[in-house]
Amino acid sequence: MTPSDFFRHTLSLAINGRGFVSPNPEVGCVIVKNGKIIGEGWHTHYGGAHAEVNAIKNAEENGESVAGSTVFVSLEPCAHTGKTPPCAELLVQKQVKEVFIFFSDPNPLVAGKGIKILQNAEIALTQAPPDLQKKYAFFYEPFQKYITTKTPFVTGKIAKSANGKTGIAGKSIILSGAEAKNFTYGLRQQHDAILVGVNTVLIDNPHLGVRGTSKYTEEYGDNAVFMNSFDKKQYRDPIRIILDPHLKSPFTAHIFRDENFLVVTQEVHKKTAETQWGSNKILTLPVLKDERFDIPSLLKKLGEMGIASVLVEGGSTTLQLFLDAKVLDQLIEYETPEIITHINAISAPKHCGTLWKEISAGKDVIKIWNGFCL
Ligand SMILES: NC(=O)c1ccc[n+]([C@@H]2O[C@H](COP(=O)([O-])OP(=O)(O)OC[C@H]3O[C@@H](n4cnc5c(N)ncnc54)[C@H](OP(=O)(O)O)[C@@H]3O)[C@@H](O)[C@H]2O)c1
Repeated sequence: MTPSDFFRHTLSLAINGRGFVSPNPEVGCVIVKNGKIIGEGWHTHYGGAHAEVNAIKNAEENGESVAGSTVFVSLEPCAHTGKTPPCAELLVQKQVKEVFIFFSDPNPLVAGKGIKILQNAEIALTQAPPDLQKKYAFFYEPFQKYITTKTPFVTGKIAKSANGKTGIAGKSIILSGAEAKNFTYGLRQQHDAILVGVNTVLIDNPHLGVRGTSKYTEEYGDNAVFMNSFDKKQYRDPIRIILDPHLKSPFTAHIFRDENFLVVTQEVHKKTAETQWGSNKILTLPVLKDERFDIPSLLKKLGEMGIASVLVEGGSTTLQLFLDAKVLDQLIEYETPEIITHINAISAPKHCGTLWKEISAGKDVIKIWNGFCL
């Protein structure tokens, strides 16, 4: 394996933590001695041991000493004592020979501090070549956005027919197939929150949880560092957010099945909503002239609540409002082969994104867009 392979491997380990470590970054670590991997690990959950600690533990459990080894890590080792002691100091203490760092910490408050500790200890340091960093820059974009702006990274997701329709007004239809659904579970797993407009709740009564199994593994090539694999025992449901300015949600809807939801409504409905669900389940915002919430203000509030990423699952009206507000970082469209000719068919949102990835998922094609025009 070449250094590039080891670097990439750190990301395929790191992705396993996505959805579990937020608002921390996902980190993967590989320890190599005599050209062979002797230990590997990742940051598995918020408050848990960091990737370097887990990789060292893994090596030592395999009966290997990490002294004199080469360490590959997806992100600059930390220099602060937070929930765990500083990883840069641990690497010094363990007498590793050299450290290869994929990305410096995007958090401007800590960037460079871990590197300094390693340099002071005269440990050889190498950063990934710029072309490799550029190729995988997408990996830390969600963390970078949240840590530098305190607003969540926003992904839109919508399924559309071959003639660009997302549904039929007043009627619930299923467009995407089983493979695409699996992909959706993976996407939900990766986000802190899932957001929908009230019509989707009224018409589809969706569950919006993570079910099933995501099977993205090494065999998926670069898509494996975009999507993590998990089985039924590992997942956690993100918080479900519903935009309901006129409080039309049926109280018995599936999204209210447990405590993990937030209703965004207007002050005028606060009392009724609080009586139904309790004050910590309600966020009130003013509406603008068009009866819409200001989306940047909404995102700011969600960021203040510690929500670092949001998956906007529709419908078209809601997603179009996010696109128009120019806050979308990424859009995932499932293109299905069906044609919808119904007179009340709803058109897919319009956007000007750049196609970044195309993944085949059974009968559907998943297209990932970013770089929306501002
Ligand atoms: N193909 C897919 O992937 C997909 C995904 C989801 C849903 N669907 C389908 O799409 C249909 C529903 O879509 P839709 O476009 O009619 O409605 P929608 O987007 O589900 O809900 C729109 C409503 O949500 C509220 N809302 C959304 N954004 C808001 C904002 N920024 N400020 C204030 N209120 C906001 C408004 O409620 P008020 O009306 O009270 O103002 C708005 O009319 C259903 O038929 C469903 O089956 C398809």
